[in-house]
Amino acid sequence: MVPAAGRGERLGPGAPKALRELGGAPLLVHAVRALARSRSVGLVVVAAPPNGVAEVVGLLDSHGLDGKDVRVVAGGATRQESVRLGLAAIPEQTEIVLVHDAARPLVPVEVVDAVIGAVRGGAGAVVPAVPLADTVKRVEPAEAGRPEPVLDTPDRATLRAVQTPQGFRRELLAEVHAKALSEAAAGGGPAVTDDAGLVEWYGGQVVVVPGHEEAFKVTRPLDLVLAEAVLARRRASDGF
Ligand code: C5P
Repeated sequence: MVPAAGRGERLGPGAPKALRELGGAPLLVHAVRALARSRSVGLVVVAAPPNGVAEVVGLLDSHGLDGKDVRVVAGGATRQESVRLGLAAIPEQTEIVLVHDAARPLVPVEVVDAVIGAVRGGAGAVVPAVPLADTVKRVEPAEAGRPEPVLDTPDRATLRAVQTPQGFRRELLAEVHAKALSEAAAGGGPAVTDDAGLVEWYGGQVVVVPGHEEAFKVTRPLDLVLAEAVLARRRASDGF
């Protein structure tokens, strides 16, 4: 499933992020195609901006999608809610669910297949990830404009930057989303930024497989420039 209901404000003003164009097609279309390229993927469920369902259906129809079954549901106010609404549209007999950000349009199919392979191999939750290029420091957040004191420097060798698609046994993902929803209704619940984070929060094991530098997330304007360059290189090298 593809949560695509975010506004993408860090990218600057304009259309919702998933609908921004990259090489003549919206980011979302690239992301759906990237998943559909895997022979193991039978259905793609997209969570669209709540007021943009008809527009997203039209866009997906106008960019042929390899004969895969694609369904569109209305997303929610948070990524977590969008994923939960998307999950509800996935048939119960489905064993494995991938959650893939619309904002990662260029993930290679090898990464998709590696994630699926690890779930098939017995893992309940799998994330693709890459080592960090930068040293990372934890800081004590300060008032805007003031220098932030450094608390410590985690050992970079043990850190990974996590990408999508993240893969799950469907039952496990549905269970942690249901728990998070009931805790949120009681005024609590985990504040996590990815689905694997929910599994970890409830004590489940998550494992990492190698990600890919081209699976980066389009967040800021410079990321779009990079994505255009990657796409141009692919088109030049193999008529992609
Ligand atoms: O904001 P961020 O880049 O972390 O969003 C990651 C993904 O979650 C994007 O594909 C975005 O469209 C999606 N999202 C969503 N519903 C929201 C917020 C974000 O589907 N309410």
